[in-house]
Amino acid sequence: MNVLGIETSCDETSAAVVVDGRRVLSNVIASQIEIHQIYGGVVPEIAARKHVDCISYIVKEALDQAGLSLSDIDAVAVANGPGLAGALLVGLSFAKAVAFAQGIPLVGVHHIYAHVCANYLDENSKENSNEDFNRNSNKNWEPPFVSLVVSGGHTHLLHVLDYHTCKVLGRTRDDAAGEAFDKVGRALGLPYPGGPQIDKLAGLSNVDTIRFPRATVGDSLDFSFSGLKSAVLQYIQKNKHDNLFSVGNCATSFQCAVTDILVSRTLQACKETGMSKVALAGGVAANNGLRGSMRQACNEYGLQLHMPSPIYCTDNAAMVASGGYYRRLAGELDGYDLNAHPNMEM
Ligand code: KG4
Ligand code: ZN
Repeated sequence: MNVLGIETSCDETSAAVVVDGRRVLSNVIASQIEIHQIYGGVVPEIAARKHVDCISYIVKEALDQAGLSLSDIDAVAVANGPGLAGALLVGLSFAKAVAFAQGIPLVGVHHIYAHVCANYLDENSKENSNEDFNRNSNKNWEPPFVSLVVSGGHTHLLHVLDYHTCKVLGRTRDDAAGEAFDKVGRALGLPYPGGPQIDKLAGLSNVDTIRFPRATVGDSLDFSFSGLKSAVLQYIQKNKHDNLFSVGNCATSFQCAVTDILVSRTLQACKETGMSKVALAGGVAANNGLRGSMRQACNEYGLQLHMPSPIYCTDNAAMVASGGYYRRLAGELDGYDLNAHPNMEM
């Protein structure tokens, strides 16, 4: 089944063609980051308009790179929430138009579920050497497993029971991990988004000199990053005029604190569910510190780990096409009344 995936939930316009939920024929991503960078964050109205400008070209490019035409596509999958309402509506309207014109099924896909599905993509189908994939994991990654989904808007620990069912084990009570990265990045004067910038700085030193607090939420598997974020912002406020103040040390120590929290909670989730397989997902899963620490912890505790290539961690349409395939396989199908749900629950 050739599925055309469409993703426009935030600031990336992406289209992909994926065969049987796994084999990626194309995955085209147009990032708007440079446009939003001057505002220090994503401006929803601008994001929606930019999606309108480029969606037709991106879909055409995805078909061209796959060597297919629209008549070869068997179903259209689109992320219809959560995300920015105006941005989601652009991809959704385009997907409906394609499905209607071609007379093929339309499938809405939950954006977070799509992030999890990035783990099913066969990375050998593209010219890409994801060392983590090749070294650490089963090439036919299958449920059940525990998934840590860490993105700009969400932080979830999921028990993925099968291709259609996820149980939420824990979630953030306040900021998402990516949001904390971006806010700390902004306070440190780094360009938006702060996550990849902090990752780069931390890669240079990787020493946790400051030891920011690691908050837990009782015995639960929930997360809370607002205390950590406030501690970092206060530290910056207090020390920024000091000659010894180092942006790199502060960024690194913050990243170490986030990573410790994410890794320890993931291990706890494995213990509580009895799972021995862990999959990362979402933009923050591209973080080198998190990948390294998770790899080390999983090795130590004998857990099997899967981490998609960074390009499949951040927003992309291949993951949406994969999610659409598995929903379609289960006989699920949406009508032309499918709507965008900015706050769609998991
Ligand atoms: O999954 P994603 O592309 O979009 C959402 O669904 O939100 O995630 C974007 C988030 C941003 O907060 C960005 O700063 C963060 O992922 N991110 C990173 C890295 N790459 C992207 N955070 C830490 N390290 C990275 N290398
Ligand atoms: Zn995302």
